Amino acid sequence: MPDLDRIVRDIADEMRGRTDRGEVASYIPELARVDPGAFGIVVIDRDGAVASGGDSEAPFSIQSISKVFTLTLALGMVGDRLWKRVGREPSGSPFNSVVQLEYERGVPRNPFINAGAIAVTDVILSGHQPREALGEIVRFMQFLAQDTSIAIDEAVAASEQRTGFRNAALASYMKSFGVIDNPVDYTLGVYFHHCAIAMSCRQLAMAGRYLAHSGRHPGTGLSVVPPERARRINAIMLTCGHYDGSGEFAYRVGLPGKSGVGGGILAIAPGRASIAVWSPGLDASGNSHLGRIALETLTKRMGWSIFGV
Ligand code: DON
Repeated sequence: MPDLDRIVRDIADEMRGRTDRGEVASYIPELARVDPGAFGIVVIDRDGAVASGGDSEAPFSIQSISKVFTLTLALGMVGDRLWKRVGREPSGSPFNSVVQLEYERGVPRNPFINAGAIAVTDVILSGHQPREALGEIVRFMQFLAQDTSIAIDEAVAASEQRTGFRNAALASYMKSFGVIDNPVDYTLGVYFHHCAIAMSCRQLAMAGRYLAHSGRHPGTGLSVVPPERARRINAIMLTCGHYDGSGEFAYRVGLPGKSGVGGGILAIAPGRASIAVWSPGLDASGNSHLGRIALETLTKRMGWSIFGV
């Protein structure tokens, strides 16, 4: 049996020393202030044993990783009717692409590109005030991570609200096709705020455990989603979780994963472990550069790729 603790420590040591770190996101001004030298990793196995290295307790902006949890919530609210609003095919396009929406008459390709996630947020918002919808999302994260200290970083949310013109374009465009039900400003407000939730690698790995264990959260013994739904969310993470870098992530890492422009990645080793890594420097597709390399090393050394050793 490979020694998980040791491998995780080795990875953290190696990543600290690397100079190729990618570029920190700057289109959300507040994110540009993050230390590009940070690196954290946490792996939580089926029994709840935690292996961690580096800045594993430091909170960072989860950004698009929140889309996994909003997808889970929206499926819980409307079930398969969600797939009338949003597709589930990989886009092969950047996360904030505008052009594909026009070809596809305002229906986003999948729930993880920005347009798709905004449509999913709109579903969660319907019938609620923005404040209630956000409360629901934050409480879901707190429950999954078993940690009531998890909160929205208001400075990051305000920063994106001031500068998120592309998302505003995507939302308005979808509204023109009837894909968005609520006022565009409300839907965007909830979207920007859930992207601005701050969590540490430890909290994020805790929150992802239900996806590694057939929908059941081993920490609480509670069923979060039926097994079939966990399997399907994992499938969408594998095919769409890294946008136009999803093929490369599957090729190198071989796990369902979801990235965020804050530099975090949540990866799921089904039946085995929930994994969170964080390094703020991004590659050209907006995915954590060292985060991906760290996960590639981990899956190789543990033999955890879903495609075999
Ligand atoms: O909407 C945005 O652009 C950000 N709030 C989230 C984008 C993101 O995290 C893309 N992922 N790598």
